[in-house]
Amino acid sequence: MRRKLVAGNWKMHGGLAENQALLEALKSALNGLQGAGMAVCAPYPYLAQLQSELAATDLAWGAQNVSEHAKGAFTGEVSTSMLKDFGCTYVIVGHSERRSLYGESDETVAKKFMAAQAAGLIPILCVGETLAEREGGVTEQVVGRQLDAVVHAAGVDALAKAVVAYEPVWAIGTGKTATPEQAQAVHAYIRGKISGLNKAVADGLVIQYGGSVKAANAAELFSQPDIDGGLIGGASLIADEFIAICKAAA
Ligand code: 13P
Repeated sequence: MRRKLVAGNWKMHGGLAENQALLEALKSALNGLQGAGMAVCAPYPYLAQLQSELAATDLAWGAQNVSEHAKGAFTGEVSTSMLKDFGCTYVIVGHSERRSLYGESDETVAKKFMAAQAAGLIPILCVGETLAEREGGVTEQVVGRQLDAVVHAAGVDALAKAVVAYEPVWAIGTGKTATPEQAQAVHAYIRGKISGLNKAVADGLVIQYGGSVKAANAAELFSQPDIDGGLIGGASLIADEFIAICKAAA
């Protein structure tokens, strides 16, 4: 049985005091919760806060992006070894906002994925189609192409130490959640595609759903056979919402 994983993606939100209050609430409600993995991914300046606040708890933590380069003249970038220095567990790669707003190509995302794994970080690889792509009937081609870039570069076995997050772009931050059936169909496609290359890797692969997950729809989404938890944006900033979502996965 795959263990579900719920990860919060705070995106560019938060502040020391705000984070502290949120983390206190999460720790008191979620520490000791059995049956699901839990993590929060914060902006870089707050990783030290996560490191100290979440040490020795059941909540892991991660970053939202990382450089594909090991070191050098890359002003403003952060390397995988720097994240590892802090005891970071996860790093999101290929979030749709990175792809669309910062021009990250499938190839760049694959390089980040490999750099993360080489440093011992667990990449959360985001894939997903835009509304135009869904309406154009090319969802599977798009998601397949995004996966292929990583599989070709890193090999299918690399997915044994990674998480995939299916995040339809049209559902992110819009309040428009994919129906459980729509999400399940794409998750099944992803697992089936990987299964064609390595069944054991596919069976063990945690595939999260992301896009307007909230307390009210989490349980139904997570009850789908191929939905192994969620990557949560807006609702991860609200303690009661995130706590309820984690409990729905556990
Ligand atoms: P929302 O939950 O705010 O739709 O964001 C999803 C997301 O992008 C998580 O990475």
